[in-house]
Amino acid sequence: MSFVVWLTGLSGAGKTTVARGLAEALRARGVGKLEVLDGDAVRENLSKGLGFSKEDRDTNVARIAFVAQLLARNDINVIVAAISPYAEARASARERIGEGFVEVHVDCGLPELVRRDVKGLYKKALAGELAHFTGVSDPYEAPESPDIRVSSEGQTADESIEAIVAYLQREQRIP
Ligand code: ADX
Repeated sequence: MSFVVWLTGLSGAGKTTVARGLAEALRARGVGKLEVLDGDAVRENLSKGLGFSKEDRDTNVARIAFVAQLLARNDINVIVAAISPYAEARASARERIGEGFVEVHVDCGLPELVRRDVKGLYKKALAGELAHFTGVSDPYEAPESPDIRVSSEGQTADESIEAIVAYLQREQRIP
């Protein structure tokens, strides 16, 4: 049965890096049918025009879950990378996708995210110039019991990827 690895976490926590690296690691292991749905790319296409209100984020997450389910039921494995800040929307995604859903929390503390601030968004948000910015001026409901929790502070990206690969093996989702 195919899987949907769903990476949730704050902006800049490393979801895209882990998603790309995980896809590469899985392909190297012979997992050929694999698609990555990355938040930034989704928002440029499937969710173009959506903003960052709770309603729009929930719509974004529901659309991603819809597409992931279509792919998964055709035996295509999926890796999702999206902040997906609301627990209820993630629970709906899990419900829609079913047994193949694997929730991964890509954790990173706010001070470290502010220090990195690759896109300069934390600085703006902290200066009060960016409303509804996740983790600063908008909520992030961290998963209480994700299937896996990795951290971009305490681990390298490769270690995080290895932990996810090991989980998928343990659960017999990959050879
Ligand atoms: S989600 O909340 O709907 O899951 P998604 O992962 O698609 O978010 O998009 C997040 C990306 O949008 C961030 O990486 C960041 O570059 C950008 N962004 C712009 N405005 C915001 C905001 N207010 N909150 C969070 N991310 C934002």
